[in-house]
Amino acid sequence: KNIVILISGRGSNMEAVVRAAQAERWPARIAAVISNRADASGLVFAAEHGIPTAIVANKDYASRAEFDAALQTVIDGFQPDLVVLAGFMRILTEQFVAHYAGRMLNIHPSLLPLFPGLATHAQALAAGVAEHGATVHFVTAELDHGPMVAQAAVPVLPDDTVETLSARVLEQEHVIYPRAIRWFVEGKLTIAQGAVHVDHTK
Ligand code: GRF
Repeated sequence: KNIVILISGRGSNMEAVVRAAQAERWPARIAAVISNRADASGLVFAAEHGIPTAIVANKDYASRAEFDAALQTVIDGFQPDLVVLAGFMRILTEQFVAHYAGRMLNIHPSLLPLFPGLATHAQALAAGVAEHGATVHFVTAELDHGPMVAQAAVPVLPDDTVETLSARVLEQEHVIYPRAIRWFVEGKLTIAQGAVHVDHTK
């Protein structure tokens, strides 16, 4: 199976996926890491690990539709079975999302359906929730609303700041995202009536 990973910055989730795929010898290869920003530091790790990289800079395109069309062409050049959004900070068009229906995953740093959108850790602190976390989900047209594959919860502690809380969540992201992607490449995931089923007998 071919996996294409999209990043916009640090790429620590991408790194966790690459490391797990190698260490656990997944029946898959990371075919490419693609960034919409030339300065994404994650591109360095990918290149150092012999993974093809590409940059499709959204600022070079006049509209979202043109950017998504160019991005799709580059992604499809790597013949992906799965597209993994890993800190990819662009809202995608319906056409693009439809093209990868059932084969594009995202990780969102909250316990969805709580706190979709940006600044999730600040949202969680402001709401005073006792638990926060992260969610892996299939990407659908509605932002941060696709069928959920995995979640991890962490406690919110009395002295937490955005920095301490986000670090605690990120550690769990690095556990659940590789696990969920592995389930996908092993053919364990099916979507029915908007819900994901994980078949552990496969
Ligand atoms: C992660 O918290 C991810 O959940 C969110 O953006 C952050 C990306 O971090 N979508 P990294 O680039 O994977 O280090």
